[in-house]
Amino acid sequence: MKKECVLVTGGAGYIGSHTAVELVNAGFDVVIVDDLSNAELSAVEGVRKITGVDVPFEQVDCCDRAALDRVFARYKFNSIIHFAAFKAVGESVVKPLAYYRNNLDSLMTVLEAMLAHGVSNIVFSSSATVYGQPEALPATESTPRQPATSPYGNTKQIAEDIIRDTAHAHPGFNAIALRYFNPIGAHPSALIGELPKGVPNNLVPFITQTAAGVRECLSVFGDDYNTPDGSAVRDYIDVVDLAKAHVVAVSRMVERKGKANYEFFNIGTGHGLSVLELVRAFEKVNGVKVNHRIAPRRTGDIEAIWADTSLAERELGWKATRSLEETLASAWAWEKHLRGIR
Ligand code: UD1
Repeated sequence: MKKECVLVTGGAGYIGSHTAVELVNAGFDVVIVDDLSNAELSAVEGVRKITGVDVPFEQVDCCDRAALDRVFARYKFNSIIHFAAFKAVGESVVKPLAYYRNNLDSLMTVLEAMLAHGVSNIVFSSSATVYGQPEALPATESTPRQPATSPYGNTKQIAEDIIRDTAHAHPGFNAIALRYFNPIGAHPSALIGELPKGVPNNLVPFITQTAAGVRECLSVFGDDYNTPDGSAVRDYIDVVDLAKAHVVAVSRMVERKGKANYEFFNIGTGHGLSVLELVRAFEKVNGVKVNHRIAPRRTGDIEAIWADTSLAERELGWKATRSLEETLASAWAWEKHLRGIR
């Protein structure tokens, strides 16, 4: 039987590369597209090394319809997983147009190419940022979306709407948006992981770089939140678990098991962890010290969020399986690999 073929846009990125690995492991053919504007070819090489499969790579900007058309003509895709997007919250506030142009133009170009080439399944990389600070926790899929606090967050909301409307207009079209909570960790092989450019914005890369001596001290943004220890609470999801959620989402569409042709799911662990708890867990698991100090709250941050994951569990048969210890060990193994630390 011919294998299902999945196009992974942004497949050289952090979540894209881990998803490419899990797709190949699950028996899919995979083609990676990435413009390498915020990713390295080494991630594609990592995917090939881990899987032992020479996964095809095309350096293409998803806003470039002619180039995408050539890729769609070369391969016969059954499904698309669309990761390709800018993702830095702070940068999006400074360069809103770059974010709207890139994140929305690329999505619309991918959707138009899908319709033109008869490809009817898409998984979209959305974010828990669409919930803002929910009034009640955990956040379920019925928790109302709130006005975005950054252009980045707004692109995720608008993108969900574009996909929903496209699905409604085309009955044979299937779309699943996965609302990620906070993805962390790396592949257990330490051959792929997160590759932040410059000073990391996200917590775990900052922790691993501080432990490695690249950064002097982690600032814990706020200790006066209304949480048990005063630091902010998030739902940290292992990137391999997250990658597997994409595999089940693609399978659900291929097998036509969806309840509607546009669906969205929370992808988290269902547990909240504070910044200070995470730092302590990292130190304990890896036997290293993370210098840190309390700093003022970061503008735009919410106090606490974690996921209700029961819908994903019930409908997708997916739930997070990796322990926090495994995840934090993998994050440190990856940082050591990058720095050549033994
Ligand atoms: C942000 C985005 C989210 C995006 C995610 C991954 C918002 C509101 N959040 O999540 O949409 O998907 O990044 O890119 O748009 N922290 C520190 N010190 C640091 C860094 C972070 O204390 O040096 C704290 C933050 O204040 C926060 C927690 O760690 O409480 C997690 O921060 P971060 O990893 O940046 O993710 P979010 O802000 O939750």
